[in-house]
Amino acid sequence: MLSGKHVLLIISGGIAAFKSLDLIRRLRDEGVSVTPVLTHAAEEFVTPLSVSALAARKVYRDIFDLTDEAEMGHIELSRAADLVVVAPATADLMAKMATGLANDLASTLLLATDKRVLIAPAMNVRMWQHPATQRNIATLAGDGVLFVGPDEGEMACGEFGPGRMAETPQIIAAIDAALSAGPLAGRHVLVTSGPTHEPIDPVRYIANRSSGAQGAAIARAAAALGADVTFVTGPATVPPPAGVRVVQVETATQMMTAVEDALPADVMIAAAAVADWRVDNAAGSKIKKTKGAALPKLSFVENPDILAKVSQMGKGRPELVIGFAAETDDLVAHATDKRQRKGCDWILANDVSPETGIMGGTENAVVLITDAGAETWPMMEKSKVADRLARKIADRLG
Ligand code: C5P
Repeated sequence: MLSGKHVLLIISGGIAAFKSLDLIRRLRDEGVSVTPVLTHAAEEFVTPLSVSALAARKVYRDIFDLTDEAEMGHIELSRAADLVVVAPATADLMAKMATGLANDLASTLLLATDKRVLIAPAMNVRMWQHPATQRNIATLAGDGVLFVGPDEGEMACGEFGPGRMAETPQIIAAIDAALSAGPLAGRHVLVTSGPTHEPIDPVRYIANRSSGAQGAAIARAAAALGADVTFVTGPATVPPPAGVRVVQVETATQMMTAVEDALPADVMIAAAAVADWRVDNAAGSKIKKTKGAALPKLSFVENPDILAKVSQMGKGRPELVIGFAAETDDLVAHATDKRQRKGCDWILANDVSPETGIMGGTENAVVLITDAGAETWPMMEKSKVADRLARKIADRLG
């Protein structure tokens, strides 16, 4: 429900700035009040007069405008809105956000705000794909910044690829989602995800094939229902979703510590494929391949069982602890047994036999095991499994 909401809209300097005029108009049609902020570069693309006329409000442009400070200081301006939206968000402004620069009004507001920030990036495809921008995207996602777009397509510069600003309806839908309180609002949901890497020496490690897709989808789905999500992830191939607090780890031991640090939580979902063992005699320097020498022998030690530990922690235990059981045979029997052994409340069991294509694939077929028994879900996209699970969690917490 958008009506009555207040958005602080920061327009930075890119060709897509013209689309922001339409965004202002459509937001106002929805009953949203829009306070516009223009960077100096944005004024090369849209005029302050047209922005202010469409918003029917003063447009803010300069941090040193003392009249503005008298009316409303920049701190207050950054917090008076329900949501801060940056559209378009240029590579330059994203870099400032990622490093915490505050050298103009827009970047200062973004550093000072205590509200959620949604950005609609727009830039040339090469700029989007540049490692520096990709690093900034990961940093911003880790900070909980929400993203909408960019879209793929032909760009004003004549090149083709990702970088076009999302269209107005898409941005409005993202604003709506960011503003809706959701049934998990005020709840802290902790998700573990991805594989772990267990070192053999500083350059070699033991890993598994988990992509982190299901865990990332669950974190996204919980955040979409308004949860405050901590996403503890091993080195996954699927990137973390926007709008969650990301904690990157490598080993099972680090994941255990990160989970302990993230508690208390209302819900924990252990979607990570944690290595059962780590190399006990991992070398501090690279093991050399010496001709004629004996082959290295690895010895193993058991890793902490994060799910079991949290399930059995007594005081401070999350209200709901959910684990996964990846099995290749006797799915329900093994998973039911695992639920008992670990002490978790729910288990999502899935058949990971190679012929199912689930491991590393986009779909999943799960059986939800609770104290009420087994509930079989049909094969569906991992994102749908995540949405259904998030709704079930919301129902359970009430
Ligand atoms: O025992 P198994 O590895 O089959 O259990 C799978 C479930 O336990 C998953 O939810 C997984 O995230 C969790 N787990 C864990 N720590 C481990 C091993 C598994 O949290 N060391």
